Amino acid sequence: MLTDPDDYLRRLDQAASAVSKKISSSPLVGLILGSGLGDFLDELAGNLSVSYSEIPHFPRSTIVGHAGNLVFNSIASMPWIAMQGRVHYYEGYAITDVVFPVRVLARLGIQKLIVTNAAGGINRKFQPGDLMVIADHINLMATNPLLGRNLDPFGPRFPDMSEAYSRNFRQLACAVALERKINLQEGIYVGLAGPSYETPAEIRMLATLGADAVGMSTVPEVIAANHAGIKVLGISCITNMAAGILDKKLDHAEVMETTTRVKDKISSLLRGVLDRLATGAEV
Ligand code: HPA
Repeated sequence: MLTDPDDYLRRLDQAASAVSKKISSSPLVGLILGSGLGDFLDELAGNLSVSYSEIPHFPRSTIVGHAGNLVFNSIASMPWIAMQGRVHYYEGYAITDVVFPVRVLARLGIQKLIVTNAAGGINRKFQPGDLMVIADHINLMATNPLLGRNLDPFGPRFPDMSEAYSRNFRQLACAVALERKINLQEGIYVGLAGPSYETPAEIRMLATLGADAVGMSTVPEVIAANHAGIKVLGISCITNMAAGILDKKLDHAEVMETTTRVKDKISSLLRGVLDRLATGAEV
């Protein structure tokens, strides 16, 4: 919980102004690229990359597979900014630090956010390597980034979460997937604190609760984005089947291997979505 909201706001301002000095225009779209999902940016020409270490107060990930760069570019004169790597609650960061970067992006002016993550598949119709557009989430992290004094410059005390993941964006992602012949699942993401993977009994409980995929990120950022009035698209990469679904153990290496395997598919989907956002095709 925020102990000194005014200091937090000051730190946000310092971080946002350091970034805005480096970029040429205000980004409209933000992307948060999860474990191993940020590589596609390397293929684009004209990227301007800023290391998190150059941005005051910006939290840095301690996890293998998470780079730490803000990448700025534009498509068809629509400026966007991507986070290559994020921090997680389980790393020991305060929940308000977990959402610090998304609030910096909000300060820079983004109105739309695309969030990606690696997740375990609970829905038995899913397979490792599938992509899932997030229809909604269940917050089981036992915390909330908005706890404490409300940050009035960002949004209201009690933000609406009834369309946390924009219906328009979900339709847009499905249209792009169809066009590019990408098989796209849709489902509910449940966010847990981690870092231990779930037990089979927990996975059975989560299935009963209506979850299709489980992960340890995204929920805090999406809450902070909704608070700030930012429309969200969420894409999960199903990197493994959740505990107990298959007769095998879970490990982070499998998560990384699957993200590498689906890199082209998720890159194509994200590229298609950015193209459509740039031409205003989503509304
Ligand atoms: N559980 C939680 N988080 C995850 C998983 C999982 O099975 N796979 C990738 N992130």
